[in-house]
Amino acid sequence: MAKYRIAWMPGDGVGNDVMDATRIVLDAMNFDAEYVHADIGWDFWCKEGNPLPDRTIETLKTTDAALFGAITSKPRDEAHEELAPELQDKGLVYFSPIVKLRQMFNLHTNLRPCKAYAGNPLNYRGDDVDLVVFRENTEGSYGGVEWYPLPEKIYDALCDNPKMVKWKDKGLENVALSTRIMSRQGCESICRQSFEYAKKFGRSSVTLVEKPNVLRETGGLMTRVFREVAKDYPGIDAWEANIDAMCMWLLKSPQDYDVLVAENMFGDIISDLAAGLVGGLGFACAANIGDDYAVFEPTHGSAPKYAGQDVVNPIAMLLTAKMMLDWLGETSEAARLEKAVADVIEAGDIATYDIKGRGKGNSTTEVAQEIARRLQSPVNA
Ligand code: IPM
Ligand code: MG
Repeated sequence: MAKYRIAWMPGDGVGNDVMDATRIVLDAMNFDAEYVHADIGWDFWCKEGNPLPDRTIETLKTTDAALFGAITSKPRDEAHEELAPELQDKGLVYFSPIVKLRQMFNLHTNLRPCKAYAGNPLNYRGDDVDLVVFRENTEGSYGGVEWYPLPEKIYDALCDNPKMVKWKDKGLENVALSTRIMSRQGCESICRQSFEYAKKFGRSSVTLVEKPNVLRETGGLMTRVFREVAKDYPGIDAWEANIDAMCMWLLKSPQDYDVLVAENMFGDIISDLAAGLVGGLGFACAANIGDDYAVFEPTHGSAPKYAGQDVVNPIAMLLTAKMMLDWLGETSEAARLEKAVADVIEAGDIATYDIKGRGKGNSTTEVAQEIARRLQSPVNA
């Protein structure tokens, strides 16, 4: 029997390309795993009206962890139009399967390291950017608590706040409401984990990215909790920045930052920005981590126009697999994989189009094969 049982979810679009590449590399490492395919994504929404079929959830429960390629997410009305004709009038509403997985398995922490590997010509501000984003992964505006039109009973319930009156004047049928709900527990967990990480890996600062001057209650709660938690880590600088200012500061001087912590939506935004500093989404790995299960999925989406063309950069997915190895406790294997990836980036001769230019890149498979070759060469063993 294999040591690990891994759910294998290519998902949509280029998810398939990068997962195939990952398999080449994991096999070259002799990673001792049984892979169990699980259906997820756009096709299952269109054909079955459910992008996250129940059978997939059952399969995941039998595995140690999941590797996930990419997902296509579309707004509600566009999604509805693509449903199979026989499902059109069933009242089905599209939901993002990755957001649902995060909530269903309580994958409360989204860890997104963004490191500028030496020699990557796409590094935006030199080779010494090394950021780690801790994104709260189940709360905030991703809770799915929203309405359109605004029901009368919700309006009434919110009417203790005199500011609501003007919305009634607009006509509730014209009003949409999305909520941002955060708990003390959620804030505390993500803040504590970011400081624990900083302590474990010798990082000098943790920066909270929020907007408490406007989002006074949710942002205020997060800020208070951050300050309380920071007291337990006197050796680590605790900085606070507003999300808007942080976008500017990260572009100007990313070297000044180390660990960043944010609620769900701000973490989503800041992690794409941080990815842009280290070569773009082709280099941005991520992990959705819970107490005893984790789903490893790169930050990038499904890029439908490149699907099946074997051209996209597999490095984000490979670094995501590296995060899985770390989480499983295979830390020396994880380090071996990261070194092979870093070496290929630094050598620069085998690289995809995002690095070499459109039409001039190597294929996804060739990059994976080059990384696999280095992993198997005795010098790198
Ligand atoms: C991400 C993605 C997802 C998110 C989408 C696909 C729902 O942007 O993982 O960052 O917003 O969390
Ligand atoms: Mg995102």
